[in-house]
Amino acid sequence: MSKIFSIAIDGPSAAGKSTLAKALARELNAMYLDTGAMYRAFGLYMLRRGAASDPAAIAACVDDVNITVDYVDGAQRICLDGEDVSQAIREPEVSMAASTVSAVPKVRERMVALQRKIAEGHSVVMDGRDIGTKVLPNATLKVFLVASAEVRARRRCRELAEKGMEQPYEQVLEEMIRRDYQDTHRAASPLMPAEDAVHLDSSDMTLDQTVAAMHALALEAIRRQ
Ligand code: DC
Repeated sequence: MSKIFSIAIDGPSAAGKSTLAKALARELNAMYLDTGAMYRAFGLYMLRRGAASDPAAIAACVDDVNITVDYVDGAQRICLDGEDVSQAIREPEVSMAASTVSAVPKVRERMVALQRKIAEGHSVVMDGRDIGTKVLPNATLKVFLVASAEVRARRRCRELAEKGMEQPYEQVLEEMIRRDYQDTHRAASPLMPAEDAVHLDSSDMTLDQTVAAMHALALEAIRRQ
């Protein structure tokens, strides 16, 4: 496929965006960028400094740290001042810290600039909360991926269990709803579908079905661009 294209996948937490984006990028031979990982890395940095819920400290620290993304055997690796934090950012406490730092406008400015720079000149599948509305407003295809809160909480519980980080379903559900509320109600680039986004509900779909649906949408959008 020779045309350069970009695909934006947005939606609430644990809707399956990353898994879907990764599979689609592989099929379309495009670069994959999980933008949530970048906010998570900065959230982890602020947690380690003991100031992950202090907006003034968050804004003051945003330029102190070097966040880099590269790829090892096709998997995205994220480093914080040279330290590989790809695993550490998946700890449950980092999720809420990522959401809190991501509400600070200065943090968003830096991350969006970094995301656009990483994607420059490549075909890309990017997932996050503001990709279609802010990072890639001219994306070839924008998808807003949703699933019911219960389905998403069950998926997240399974994911955590596979990594040996079991958590009770009720707790996962409650934290997920709280984080989605925070991401949707912040003033700076809140989570919302772009006007021209295609809405996809994966509650009753398997991953293979979701990838197939996205693949068809992507091919059609690339053909038309
Ligand atoms: O996709 P995720 O759960 O790894 O994202 C972690 C947090 O980062 C999420 O709660 C909100 C924030 N985020 C954001 O504000 N914008 C993005 N493009 C991606 C993530």
